[in-house]
Parts: sequence; C-alpha cells; structure tokens
Amino acid sequence: MKVIIGKDYAEISKLAAEKMIGEWDSYNILGFATGSTPEGLYQELIQANKDGKISFKDKTTVNLDEYIGLPENHKESYRFFMNTKLFDHVDVDKKNTNVPHAKDEFDVAACKNYDELVNKLGGADIQILGIGENGHIAFNEPNEELSANTNIVKLTDSTIKANSRFFNNEDEVPRYAITMGMGTILKAKEIILLASGVKKADAIKKLVEDDKVTTKNPSTFLKLHPNVTIYITQDIADAINL
Ligand code: F6R
Repeated sequence: MKVIIGKDYAEISKLAAEKMIGEWDSYNILGFATGSTPEGLYQELIQANKDGKISFKDKTTVNLDEYIGLPENHKESYRFFMNTKLFDHVDVDKKNTNVPHAKDEFDVAACKNYDELVNKLGGADIQILGIGENGHIAFNEPNEELSANTNIVKLTDSTIKANSRFFNNEDEVPRYAITMGMGTILKAKEIILLASGVKKADAIKKLVEDDKVTTKNPSTFLKLHPNVTIYITQDIADAINL
C-alpha cells in the first residue's frame, strides 16, 4: 500500500487528480464515492474536463452506495450528489453512470443485480474511496461479520449521527442503505483512498500500522489488494507518527 502525504485537503485532492489524469486513458470504468472528502478531487476532474485534458464521453461509472428511502432527486441522495458535484459538469453520458438503488431494505434483487452489473463490467478500473472515522468503507460498518457482495445495511448510530450534519436532524437520516461489499470493492483494479483531517487518524492507523485484517475496521480489507494508494493530510500523518 502506497501512502502519499499532502500538506492539506487541497493538496491531496490535487495529487490524486494528477495521478488519475495522468492515467486517464487506461480507465474505462470509474468507481466513485460520495461524502465530503472526494469533492475536491471532483472539482479538479471537472476543471481538467473543461480544459480539454480529459473526457468522460466513453467512460462508465459505478458508485459505491446509496441511502434507501430517498428519491433520486432528494438533495441528500447519493445520485443527486453525483449529478450535482460531478456528472452535470462533465461530458459523461448519464446513461453510463450507475448508482445502486434499492426500493426498500428487503430488496435483495437490487443487490444481486448491482453485483452482476459490476461483474459484467469487470470491476472498476479505478475506485475512489473515502473512509469513516470508525474505518467504514462505503456503508460497510464495523461488525462481527461483513458481507462480501453488495448488500443492505442498517446504519449504525455513529454513522447516523455523523451524517445528520447533512439533514435537518437525526430523525431524517435514512436507517438503511445499499452498499457494495468489500469483495465487490476489491474487484477494482486500482484503489485510491482519500482521508483528510485528524478525525480520520485512528482509522488510518489501523490501515497502515500492520498487516492485520479485521471486520472491526472494514478499511483493513484493503490490505488484501495489490494496488492501493492512500492520500492523507499532514495532520493525520503527524497524529500517527508517519
Ligand atoms: C460514501 C461513502 C462513505 C464515505 C465516508 C467518509 O460513498 O461510501 O463511506 O466515504 O463516510 O465520508 P466523508 O468523506 O464525508 O468524511
């Protein structure tokens, strides 16, 4: 696992974007994440698209996860996030953008269909990830067991609390989500994980300090992948003596 330290959020966003832009032609399937962390990277990609350096015309995208129970045009749905933060501003064909969607928490068919889609595409050529303070990846929360494949999860209290900053109050945060499993994510040929701010230090420590894998920190499953680069800010590096 390669670790790249940038002085701040702007710098890690830029460094990750430069890497992607440099290898753009080798990516057909782009794996995206939502959350606040990748926004800076998306802005860099939008600018590069406007400058004519990269095109999304022939690209297909797959996203990691989506809340259950929010309509696609809800301002907190991950489909809405991707449209407004990236897809609406680049030359991607929306037909080729995929965000999982389950109609309710019992919709196992939606999980199966999404895995089939990812498999048919051969997995993402590059998958962008953020990380939760508790080490969650996508909506794979720390637990006794994790599902390998796309699955429906009940959000933990800590994630509901963390995500309530985007809603009027905690009650409005959906209780369930559909998410790629760690196995689905590990099908990506290359993975970039971004983490900014000292709140992520504990989670990153578990990811880089040894070779142990634990469902108590789903990000540690990334140790099983041969091509992962993590971009972290200097304050995280300082906090864990990197
Ligand atoms: C989003 C996702 C989440 C976030 C994580 C960090 O698609 O899968 O796992 O990456 O919650 O969120 P931020 O970036 O807002 O700190």
